[in-house]
Amino acid sequence: MSKRYAGITGTGHYVPEYVLTNQELETIVDTNDEWIRTRTGIRERRILKDKDKATSFMATRAAEEVLERTGTDPKEIDVIIVATVTPDYMFPATACLVQKNIGATRAYAFDMLAACSGFLFALTTGSNMIESGRAQKVLVIGADKMSSIVDYTDRNTCILFGDGAGAVLLEAFEEETGVIDYVHYTDGDDQCLLYQPAGGSKRPASHETVDLHLHSLRQDGRPVFKKATEGMADVSAEIMQRNNLTGEDVDWLVPHQANLRIISATANRMGLDPSKVMINIDKYGNTTAATIPLCLYEWSDRLSKGDKLVLTAFGGGLTWGATYVKWSV
Ligand code: UT7
Repeated sequence: MSKRYAGITGTGHYVPEYVLTNQELETIVDTNDEWIRTRTGIRERRILKDKDKATSFMATRAAEEVLERTGTDPKEIDVIIVATVTPDYMFPATACLVQKNIGATRAYAFDMLAACSGFLFALTTGSNMIESGRAQKVLVIGADKMSSIVDYTDRNTCILFGDGAGAVLLEAFEEETGVIDYVHYTDGDDQCLLYQPAGGSKRPASHETVDLHLHSLRQDGRPVFKKATEGMADVSAEIMQRNNLTGEDVDWLVPHQANLRIISATANRMGLDPSKVMINIDKYGNTTAATIPLCLYEWSDRLSKGDKLVLTAFGGGLTWGATYVKWSV
């Protein structure tokens, strides 16, 4: 059998209507618009206010959009992977809820947890399934309702995160296109620099865990910043070197949107002109697994077949990585 490739043939997205501005945050915690903008690049983020709606709702909307934009019958989908740290339930997987909602009756579905690197790791998993010949069409979704695990009394973290979802459809190609290469890393030594202390089997929910706000995410910002800046820049340089790419060759950097300063440092290291960097952190903040597919969706009209993209992310775990993609449509 000749080598198969997994190309991205479409994108979809969902962001909630409610806009949480820096000005509104000034009324909730001791912060200010100028601090948030200059330290992070964020002006506003979207929040899913409806208490009955959760991550599966946003993931479903993003999936429906990519199916519609590509003219795909949900019954053609072989696999659904949802990357998230904010599943509707501990189990079943949010991907199972999406499978039902979109009517993908032939698909099997599961979640992937790699925090802010979740979409990249899911993209790699989905593309490997296609390259192996076992799947033809895979839906890869990054979705997070971060507002469900943010402590709105903690100014160190509550200004950073927002809610949203993005989806891509992967399809099999004979030509060399799509996911060409990837480099992924994990360092479990620093697992507690960015994590949600309770709610898992180590500290199940109790009065104490609720009283201590242990169901919200915790981040030690400064060390994570340092490691993210080094990690994203290093891994992006590594994937370029492996594939003989210079800053001139790369058409787009698609970075995880955690901090504008981290994104700029990565672009600098790659020798990229700022005009080639996808940035929407100002509008959405850090939507964890959704940042990269949200960028792909927003820029999809400006992408041409053959464009060379470097996707890169860093997050809890710690996890990080870069993926080299040739745009397929
Ligand atoms: O997506 C997963 C990976 N995550 C990341 O990549 C995030 C990495 N970290 C960061 O982006 C940055 O560390 C933050 C944006 C979270 C924080 O920026 P920083 O420049 O590292 O600030 P800092 O934590 O060192 O805090 C500086 C000062 C402190 O005051 P003192 O101790 O110098 O008096 C903080 O208390 O800023 C204070 N501060 C705030 N002030 C106003 C912290 N949060 C706020 C706030 N508003 N919201």
